[in-house]
Amino acid sequence: MKDSKRHRSAEWFGKADKDGFNHRSWMKNQGIPDDHFDGRPVIGICNTWSELTPCNAHFRELAERVKRGVLEAGGFPLEFPVTSTGETLMRPTAMLFRNLVSMDVEESIRANPIDGVVLLVGCDKTTPALLMGAASCDIPTLALSGGPMLNGVYRGERIGSGTHVWKFDAMVKAGEITLDDFLGAEACNARSPGHCMTMGTASTMASMVEALGIGLPTNAAIPAVDSRRKTLAQIAGRRIVEMVESDLKMSKILTRQAFENAIRVNAAIGGSTNAVIHLMAIAGRMGIDLSLEDWDSLGRDIPCLVNLMPSGEYLMEDFYYAGGLPVVLKELGAQGCLHKDALTVNGETIWNNVHDAECYDRKVIFPFKDPFKPVGGIAVLRGNLAPGGSVIKPSAASPELMQHRGRAVVFETIEDYKARIDDPDLDIDETCVMVLKNCGPKGYPGMAEVGNMALPTKVLKKGITDMVRISDARMSGTAYGTVVLHVAPEAAAGGPLALVENGDIIEIDVTARSIHVDISQAELDARKARWVLPDTGPERGYVHLYVEHVNQADTGCDLDFLVGKSGAAVPRENH
Ligand code: FES
Repeated sequence: MKDSKRHRSAEWFGKADKDGFNHRSWMKNQGIPDDHFDGRPVIGICNTWSELTPCNAHFRELAERVKRGVLEAGGFPLEFPVTSTGETLMRPTAMLFRNLVSMDVEESIRANPIDGVVLLVGCDKTTPALLMGAASCDIPTLALSGGPMLNGVYRGERIGSGTHVWKFDAMVKAGEITLDDFLGAEACNARSPGHCMTMGTASTMASMVEALGIGLPTNAAIPAVDSRRKTLAQIAGRRIVEMVESDLKMSKILTRQAFENAIRVNAAIGGSTNAVIHLMAIAGRMGIDLSLEDWDSLGRDIPCLVNLMPSGEYLMEDFYYAGGLPVVLKELGAQGCLHKDALTVNGETIWNNVHDAECYDRKVIFPFKDPFKPVGGIAVLRGNLAPGGSVIKPSAASPELMQHRGRAVVFETIEDYKARIDDPDLDIDETCVMVLKNCGPKGYPGMAEVGNMALPTKVLKKGITDMVRISDARMSGTAYGTVVLHVAPEAAAGGPLALVENGDIIEIDVTARSIHVDISQAELDARKARWVLPDTGPERGYVHLYVEHVNQADTGCDLDFLVGKSGAAVPRENH
């Protein structure tokens, strides 16, 4: 047996005693040759494969490709599962389980003989959950996204995941298409393996992986079924072995500069508002102080460069053919909007990776100086309605509503909204401000993606497609509209949102970054005195733990006791 003390796995496999016997012997029941225990790097392949997570259902093959690369580079690959969070099926919301999965990942890595890890990520929450868990261990880590689905195509036109569900649903309600037309789009919307192919949360987070440098160049956009995705997986397998050999830990890559790059990239791609919550949670695990104001100040002058749904008309497949994220990074770098020397997992700086990128379709990726939309990024609104902050995505909003004053129509819960939104007697028109409460981290619980409430049918029938909507909820990254989200503190934590009543006048001014309810502090205090804490779920189990400990949206919704890291010191022997 070689001197294998360099790696933490040697504490399991490198001992010529009873414990070493146990650790090696049982592994050999899988037919693993003796030489695999000679001190070579052990690479964990953290797999979120599940048939209940259709976006990640192709990950078994991807894992095999990673293994091939690990073996080529002289490593010892070991695949392991963690809980998979599928966005479309999990109730009440996959977000409720992001932090639970992060614990699964963290403890799985620490408890096992793993020297480096490749994270297989795809569907929305799988990316932040795995990055958060790995960050709390801080071993060499490389994230590999599963890639987007091919373009949705229905009756000759591109249709985008999620985006067209909202659009078609509104069109059915407005009488513009039939229910059969709507249902006919189902298979056309999801016609290959992969995650949502709009610039929704999954594609945004895949782009964040590349922008943070924790994934390889081109990670964001190669379609799931493109052979080059398999090649990328194999290269990832090779590279993680080298990362272990050179001790290239996560903390050397996920620096403050890397997060600043990612925030700017999120603005340039018109990325999901969910990225705000996820990146703040990942930064929290790394001990990096990231604030809502960083999102506003760093993204404020960054235009939206990509013409992708939900803000534009193309899809991730088109983005890849146009040159993908390297082109966006090059545009930002050329304008001084990138920390060029930020290190990435391939050992190169981010600028070295992208400085010779070429754009092949300027209808999809626009130049910085002649952008697709002048404003990208996330605007952070504060005021007496959201003292902890709230967010809006200007590139997905209606310009004429960015400054708006209107009468509040209040829904106490999402069930209340569903029950009354199409009541003919509901006193609402397009000038009103729709307010939804109790959909935040504690209130739902889990912070549902319901902030982009569909408009009342009677308003849609007038041809109106947008109204100002305000809530403590999140919004799908595939959605659009003048939607103020993540109001903090949330209603269920006693925030001012809980005190808004029908008829109150609310004013938002995105340019001034303000959100205000036009009532006195004395009236707010009086209402607070009458406020009753809503029921937030069961008295036991994970949901109880979550509600007790979840942080508010302005700091990333992590559980308070999970913020930070514990490292990867080898735990005591399993006697
Ligand atoms: Fe999985 Fe959209 S539902 S990425």
